[in-house]
Amino acid sequence: MEKFELFENERATAYDSFVKNWIPNYGTFLNMLPHLFNDTRNDKLLAVGCGTGNEILVLKKNGYSGSIMGIDPSPEMIAQATDKLKEYSDIVLKEVLVSQLTIDHQFNAATLILILHFLKDDGEKLDLLRDISIRLEPKALLIMLDITGNEKEIKKNLEILRKLLPEDMGQDEISKRMDRIYHELQHVSEERIIELFIEAGFEEPTKFFQSTVYMGWMARKKD
Ligand SMILES: C[S@@+](CC[C@H](N)C(=O)[O-])C[C@H]1O[C@@H](n2cnc3c(N)ncnc32)[C@H](O)[C@@H]1O
Repeated sequence: MEKFELFENERATAYDSFVKNWIPNYGTFLNMLPHLFNDTRNDKLLAVGCGTGNEILVLKKNGYSGSIMGIDPSPEMIAQATDKLKEYSDIVLKEVLVSQLTIDHQFNAATLILILHFLKDDGEKLDLLRDISIRLEPKALLIMLDITGNEKEIKKNLEILRKLLPEDMGQDEISKRMDRIYHELQHVSEERIIELFIEAGFEEPTKFFQSTVYMGWMARKKD
């Protein structure tokens, strides 16, 4: 079973405001998803690590007509997603990891938003990408948002991120989070992201979005 990061208690309840404060242009990124998945070839979507359901909500609100399965290992996050998405149909939410889904489950689209940086680049990242890839049809589109960059880029972009944070955020909170991003989260370079996608069975990914340390990537599964 792959490694995972449990979101519970305050980390779960405060998640939606945390993500808005800490990821400049997170909303802009999400708003691109309905356009990028607006294709009948991408109408069976797997949202890996869907958390409180933000990516699913933006798709459904903007007329995505396909089916969506959202999965997440954290019960408190799945509970929030269930509540947030209760008025929409064609959504299945499950408290599971990708590796627990049967392999004959075929999806033709997937999201992996703010997950990969929790996993080490010692096989864990590759295992997760492979676990997704083997459940996708050829040419399926995967869209990812993740902390990306080499040490120098991360350092410089963290200084830019600092300037974009809400003015009322405390200095202690800022220092702690900056430290965590730099020292604890498992960011890798753009070159390494490209290698990992290709090794996992995807075509070469395209970087289509960047907001400080956060980069948006898309790739199709190989034929
Ligand atoms: C930062 S949140 C992102 C949630 C959502 N994608 C969003 O953009 O709002 C990370 C989520 O990933 C889940 N998670 C952690 N490790 C995971 C893994 N190995 N596979 C799938 N999900 C995982 C956590 O439970 C948490 O809900």
